[in-house]
Amino acid sequence: MDLKQLITEIEQEIAAAEIKGQEQLEAFRIAYLGSKNKLKDLYKELKSVPNELKKEVGQAINALKTLAEDKFNEAAEANSKKSSGNLSKFDLSRPAEEIEIGARHPLAVVRNEIIEIFSRIGFSVSEGPEIEDDWHNFSALNFPPEHPARDMQDTFFIQKGDDEMALRTHTSSVQVRVMEGEEPPIRTISPGRVYRNEAISARAHCFFHQVEGLYIDTDVSFADLKQTLLYFAKEMFGEKAEIRLRPSYFPFTEPSAEVDVSCTICNGDGCNVCKYTGFLEILGCGMVDPNVLEACGIDSKKYAGFAFGMGVERIAQLKYRVNDLRLYSENDVRFLEQFKSAY
Ligand code: PHE
Repeated sequence: MDLKQLITEIEQEIAAAEIKGQEQLEAFRIAYLGSKNKLKDLYKELKSVPNELKKEVGQAINALKTLAEDKFNEAAEANSKKSSGNLSKFDLSRPAEEIEIGARHPLAVVRNEIIEIFSRIGFSVSEGPEIEDDWHNFSALNFPPEHPARDMQDTFFIQKGDDEMALRTHTSSVQVRVMEGEEPPIRTISPGRVYRNEAISARAHCFFHQVEGLYIDTDVSFADLKQTLLYFAKEMFGEKAEIRLRPSYFPFTEPSAEVDVSCTICNGDGCNVCKYTGFLEILGCGMVDPNVLEACGIDSKKYAGFAFGMGVERIAQLKYRVNDLRLYSENDVRFLEQFKSAY
């Protein structure tokens, strides 16, 4: 084919090329400007052109090259304008928006703190099911058959096949499981969620969280219990904290006591938070009833133990002055974000 004709053809090709978008632009570059482009073949042909025509043909091919380059640059520029058209929606000089850092839930913070305080004196953590049978939640814990705590008003019962199950009303059920499965000495705490059939209000909820503790060994006395709880109160509420024990009743402990801590606000002087008593109730405790030890297969002549149980919400309430229990489960960010500084 005539070289001149070929040049004209390519010239028309280049001039007619429609370059839309990045892909076509790249195809054009490869065809006319790349390492194996069509123009290179033309330069090769130049060898066979008679000398007197070489200059003219050479210039024509050079002009083709310039044409291809111009066309390419033009298309590339149009292309990048298009995409920077998108970019201009963004103001790159604007400061970045602050990244919100999440926070632990206040109940998790307090639960972890309780666990940490007791693990420092050798208590392990044990967990168990939230759906329990009567034995672990009540019978093994020395609840008489007609005890009011089994009443429909306090317990959520669930029918599971022929078995009646319950949502555990306390994590004492976990301690029954530990006693059944382990030989003393036992030193464990059981944190977890518990359920009670109560109307939801500022002061009561149908579920809340507990940490219960159990210590069984030979020669365990009430003095050990008291000292352990005093240690806890001081670690939790500060060195100045004092405790007070009042006689109480639980089916699974004998003797039983309710424990108050000196008011975290007035340090015992009397204020409206402690209703001028100087003390706030924080937990229940007692010496494990021998019936419970025996029910769980532990020799009550050889071993004795103490147990205690506290509500995590109650401790959190005293620490953070939160007076409405419902706030803990509503997931209102305005409430939760106030605990960002609590680790
Ligand atoms: N199980 C009791 C409750 O849920 C708390 C408790 C535990 C009291 C251990 C005494 C001993 O209220």
